[in-house]
Amino acid sequence: MPRPAAVETGAPLEFEGVRKTFQTHFWQRPVTSLDGLDLEIREGEILGLLGPNGAGKTTTIKLALGLIFPDQGSVRLMGCPAERPSARAQVGYLPENPYFPDDLSGRELIHFAGRLHGLSAADRRHRAELLLEQVGLSAAADRPLRKYSKGMVQRAGMARALVGSPRFIILDEPMSGLDPVGRRQFRDMILKLREQGTTVLFASHVLSDAEMLCDRVAILRAGRLLAMRDLGGLEEERAILGWEVAVMGGGSLGAARLVAERGEERLWRFSAEARPDGILSAIEGAGAKLQALRPQRETLEELFLRTLSDAEEDS
Ligand SMILES: Nc1ncnc2c1ncn2[C@@H]1O[C@H](COP(=O)(O)OP(=O)(O)O)[C@@H](O)[C@H]1O
Ligand SMILES: [Mg+2]
Repeated sequence: MPRPAAVETGAPLEFEGVRKTFQTHFWQRPVTSLDGLDLEIREGEILGLLGPNGAGKTTTIKLALGLIFPDQGSVRLMGCPAERPSARAQVGYLPENPYFPDDLSGRELIHFAGRLHGLSAADRRHRAELLLEQVGLSAAADRPLRKYSKGMVQRAGMARALVGSPRFIILDEPMSGLDPVGRRQFRDMILKLREQGTTVLFASHVLSDAEMLCDRVAILRAGRLLAMRDLGGLEEERAILGWEVAVMGGGSLGAARLVAERGEERLWRFSAEARPDGILSAIEGAGAKLQALRPQRETLEELFLRTLSDAEEDS
């Protein structure tokens, strides 16, 4: 099915000085959920919206979808006010904890969503077939959702979000509660969407999910944008924690620790202080043959925590 005509143009999403508070009890001070947020998502990118629980990720998403309104500032979706139906029609959404009537089958879920999008019966059938295939649920298409695993429900939710061939898809913590296989399947699905030119906003409190996936990450904390970074550039900023050296044969490598051995193959670990040229001469001295030398960098998670504590010291 062709994508809906791109009647609305402009950046997929633009926040300018957005402030959002919630009044929980009338006698209490309102909770500030977003505190002057500026954010722009570029066409065709995968943007990770990262931050601990309570940072304001879901609030950002609800504002983007026009489900709630800012107290101050502006939210533009596809260059239009977020609540405009023509803008909203180009966006797919997978909520954080999707609730789907669980006696529906995966196929029925997609059919139903297709009906909401105004697809004809033939289009719905065709679209359901295609999407269920795309998310790897063809074999389970006619089973009720209550018999699906958490990962399968998330994938069905993804198929449902894709029914209207969105140009922009918003996923709120899509990988939470998935096992490693489920996470990988989900990641591959998202990468495939980008190949097709879809813009993706992906909220997560788990950095490692973003690491392999995102072009840029926005780090939110307490309703403020702490950092907006290209992931490419982050590689160099991650501190080296040590060196991993794979060799064939040879004796002990001085200061290094043997971490694994299989036949002639050995994996050694040097501390962060070791220098590559020193490592190379140790290998030569031990009569071993170098297979690979890799720096062990801190994870994105560790870098993130470091950035947070640096920011705390500065403020
Ligand atoms: N409907 C609401 N009523 C009251 N407080 C809310 C509401 N929605 C969000 N909040 C508060 O706003 C803050 C940000 O929440 P949220 O956007 O859900 O964070 P995240 O998705 O990053 O975990 C939290 O302190 C949360 O308690
Ligand atoms: Mg949330």
